Amino acid sequence: MKNLFEIAEACLHNPDVDKKLALTHRAKWLLEHRQLDFTASQPVLAIGEVKFPETPILQAPRHMPKRNLTTQDGVIAFFHAITHVEFMAIYLAWDLLYRFRGLPEQFYQDWLIVADEEAQHFELLQQHLRRFNVEYGDLPAHNGLWDHAVETAGDLLARLAMVPRCMEARGLDVTPGIIAKFTAKGDEVAVAILNRILTDEVKHVERGSFWFKTLCHQRGLVPETQYQNLISQYYRGGKPKGPFNRDMRKVAGFSDAELDWLEAG
Ligand SMILES: [Fe+2]
Ligand SMILES: [Fe+2]
Repeated sequence: MKNLFEIAEACLHNPDVDKKLALTHRAKWLLEHRQLDFTASQPVLAIGEVKFPETPILQAPRHMPKRNLTTQDGVIAFFHAITHVEFMAIYLAWDLLYRFRGLPEQFYQDWLIVADEEAQHFELLQQHLRRFNVEYGDLPAHNGLWDHAVETAGDLLARLAMVPRCMEARGLDVTPGIIAKFTAKGDEVAVAILNRILTDEVKHVERGSFWFKTLCHQRGLVPETQYQNLISQYYRGGKPKGPFNRDMRKVAGFSDAELDWLEAG
């Protein structure tokens, strides 16, 4: 298999975790070795056709195990939760490039690189969970991230606003505080993993901002106004609550006007 969209279809419609990871890395290898075919010939399957593994069992957020980082169970619950976020991030990157066609080749290259980095994040965390004798899927998880993908399946600007520029951007706000807690505990392994992920996530959000702005300009839309409209339309509760990491979000392509709007109560 050397066609990007065939690989994307296989990754999204095959629940097997190891195969998904291997195919994702293979697609990135094909890109690096200029052997990847970007021809889109098959129709896009409906988002309801996407398949997930049987575990973790998906439950409402209020049923998630407590993530109190002062106990070992809490640390395990925290790492299992972010392992699930990274697993869903693999799907989200693949779905973005699979579902939206007719864009420049650079768009597809960018999101393939993101999918590959999400797979690396997942593998780092899967390994880390195994240090506690826990496998991904042993604890329940919640499915909020995928709901946003389903709701924005027909609107690329809404997808970019809600997924990289809202849900992924939240990671930039909260991860530095979590890294500080693990630093205080002297947990160097956890700190190294979280720092690696944070560095990559800034790039992912930046690619979201870049494509959001590029597509707005092409369509004669003002990015700031579009961002506000789409978040207000799709985010339950109107918009995310701060505090926001202004410095990192600016590196990731947020404008002062967008940050001012987010921060205004
Ligand atoms: Fe990630
Ligand atoms: Fe990401």
